[in-house]
Amino acid sequence: MASSAKAAAPKAAASKKTAAPAAKKSAGNTGKGAGSNATVDIQPILNQQNHAPAPTQRYGTVSQRLPIGLDEPTRQASVTMLNQLLADTITLRDMYKKHHWQVVGPTFYQLHLLFDKHYEEQAVLVDAIAERIQILGGVAVAMAHDVAELSSIPRVPRDREEAPVQVSRLLDGHQRLLKNCHDYASKADDKGDDGTNDLIVSQLIRTNEMQVWFVSEHVVESPLTRAE
Ligand SMILES: [Fe+2]
Repeated sequence: MASSAKAAAPKAAASKKTAAPAAKKSAGNTGKGAGSNATVDIQPILNQQNHAPAPTQRYGTVSQRLPIGLDEPTRQASVTMLNQLLADTITLRDMYKKHHWQVVGPTFYQLHLLFDKHYEEQAVLVDAIAERIQILGGVAVAMAHDVAELSSIPRVPRDREEAPVQVSRLLDGHQRLLKNCHDYASKADDKGDDGTNDLIVSQLIRTNEMQVWFVSEHVVESPLTRAE
């Protein structure tokens, strides 16, 4: 076995030299017999981040790539506002999942399901905001450490908290987000960025207001067995 492999090695090395340019041109066309060592040509090139060239685009800049009929100052202003909304929406989304896992008490089942439903809805919003930022030529904030720095929602403790405290934190987060939404929607409207205005009004405000309603009704003092 070993001797046949040794004998085949020089042949494979020699054919690699001459076959290399053709292989580059037609990637994916194997064209080699079962006995050849073709796998050496498809090794992944790892650790490229260690010597990364300049990034494709720096965070905080906007490119003019897509012809969407909006000038650069307008797109820059919208991207800045949307990144703020994105950081807060990611934070709210993750707070819902935290509370989904950690909720405790007689309302466990309802809140457990409700929090996960709202998490899923916030995840949809996260994607819509991030993709709007990319369409505008910006760079969407994405990673947890960057989100934590940018978010306007106060840091949530790692501890497990009582359900009413969880609900109050969520309502505070929603309110901060919604206040920004109203402000940013009118600013986007003033500048003629209808797409951003529509995203904020039709998706963000509508969804967050609905979630506020569903969550708020859980912390209304209400008798369980006798009308008062
Ligand atoms: Fe779950």
